[in-house]
Amino acid sequence: MNELCVGLEERSYPIHIEYGCLDKVGEDLAERRIANRYCIIADSKVAGLYGDRLFDSLRQSNIKAELVTFPAGEASKNLNTFAFLCSTLAQKGFDRRDGIIALGGGVSGDLAGFVAASYMRGIPFVQIPTTLLSQVDSSVGGKTGVDIAEGKNLVGAFYQPKAVYIDSGVLETLEKEELLGGIAEVIKYGVIRDAAFFRYLSEKRAEALALNTKVIETIIHTSCTIKAQVVAEDERESDIRRILNYGHTIGHAVEAVSDFSIIHGKAVAIGMVAAARIAELQGILPAENKDEIVGLLQDYGLPTAIPPQFDRKKIKKYLLADKKIVSGKVAYVLPVRIGEVIITDKVEETLVDKVLS
Ligand code: GLY
Repeated sequence: MNELCVGLEERSYPIHIEYGCLDKVGEDLAERRIANRYCIIADSKVAGLYGDRLFDSLRQSNIKAELVTFPAGEASKNLNTFAFLCSTLAQKGFDRRDGIIALGGGVSGDLAGFVAASYMRGIPFVQIPTTLLSQVDSSVGGKTGVDIAEGKNLVGAFYQPKAVYIDSGVLETLEKEELLGGIAEVIKYGVIRDAAFFRYLSEKRAEALALNTKVIETIIHTSCTIKAQVVAEDERESDIRRILNYGHTIGHAVEAVSDFSIIHGKAVAIGMVAAARIAELQGILPAENKDEIVGLLQDYGLPTAIPPQFDRKKIKKYLLADKKIVSGKVAYVLPVRIGEVIITDKVEETLVDKVLS
């Protein structure tokens, strides 16, 4: 298997990236002896698609497992589902020597990870992400949690998995829209840390969208390498990890104002362009670099402008309520060239208004 490591001393863990590795998870877990038995947590859709393959792999290595499902969708990422999952573990007699496998996209990973962080004050867990977005972002780095009425991801914990298994083959069942959502985060890595990767994404657009195995695995590998480096430098997002929020400040506001009808990745694409425009207006990003960011997002079919029907005042309101606000100021991640960003709270409101207009 192609393996990377998230270097967090005694909490370090491997990320395996390989087409078809879903069928080898049992063999690898048997060697690692992470837990006695596992509760696989998946939404009903992913359980139907991949539950049997994972069970077969575990069975072949004599690993005991139970499957618990919840209804697919962000609406399930709440405290009720969390309580249901914890109660189910207790009813099935799971103890500290047992573990959890999160099988699915970001909702399953965040939810199952938070259950793992909380049940019996923490039991081991493993991530098997099945969307591009979760493969390149949410399954790595230990952010777990649920949404509450007051906002998304407002309750949670930093809790690292023991291993991440990324099977690029499972992307074949992903809807195009969801693939694009993941691509937005992938482009983000190029802008924040890696100009050569940005160019690679530009050159390999057709192969990436056609899920060419070599290209998509290079994309996943490079994205996870950047994420692993950033997380190893600043696990709890007190500093450098905030660069991963490039495009997310305005992106989250757009997502919320759309009532979540725009998927996260597309909102992030809009947010990346908005941040690039702010950087250009501040005179810290050359116009041609901003054009390159817009051009690459458009080449992949991602949106780059805030839809005209969205209420700008509401977007402003959400921006001010963003949880990344520090002492009344909104923190922006702004590109200064392709491959480098800065974090700043010194952005004139007039510039933000200009970009939102
Ligand atoms: N998705 C951003 C982070 O994990 O920090």
